[in-house]
Amino acid sequence: MTETTNENSAGQAMKRMLIGIVLLVVLTALLFLVAPDSFYPWAKAIHVIAVIAWMAGMLYLPRLFVYHVDAEKGSEQSETFKVMERRLLRAIINPAMTVTWVFGLWLAWKGFGFQGGWLHAKILAVLLLSGLHGYLAGAVRKFAEDKNEKPARHWRIVNELPTLLMIVIVILVIVKPF
Ligand code: HEM
Repeated sequence: MTETTNENSAGQAMKRMLIGIVLLVVLTALLFLVAPDSFYPWAKAIHVIAVIAWMAGMLYLPRLFVYHVDAEKGSEQSETFKVMERRLLRAIINPAMTVTWVFGLWLAWKGFGFQGGWLHAKILAVLLLSGLHGYLAGAVRKFAEDKNEKPARHWRIVNELPTLLMIVIVILVIVKPF
């Protein structure tokens, strides 16, 4: 795949992401104006939808790295993995994380005034998840420059971390144990 084609597809992914964000903002504003009293459950629904998209990406990306490690540097397969990784990060994972945070913080303020042990623990776990997100974004850059040094086993282990954090986060927010 040529450099120009890569740039075009990256540009298109950015355009789609921007359209998605604008649509979400307009839809949210409309919902808020039309039904201000039932906005909380709507905000929670958008939050959970974004969480699902974020988690899907966070589970898929390290799995792509596991396969990418085995592809010979400079091969067509390796270049295809680079495009897949970059698109997944830019078009899904980054916007989904932003929407999760924005709506999560709004829910925490509106519904709980930022009070509660479970909420503080949840925010801490989400900060860890966001740190992992940053680490994976750095890895996408390294793979893009053919500079990844980590073996497939490393990415297999990293692949389990979002699952563990997700289990903790969901138990905290649904059971609210403390
Ligand atoms: C800093 C980011 C986040 C904050 C501040 C936040 C905060 C909140 C709050 C306040 C609620 C409403 C709880 C209720 O009404 O009982 C909620 C719902 C929810 N959150 Fe988050 N959240 C964040 C990120 C996440 C993440 C990363 C996940 C999953 C991996 C997640 C999963 C959920 C689920 C499943 C619900 C629905 C719970 C229910 O209906 O009982 N949240 N969140």
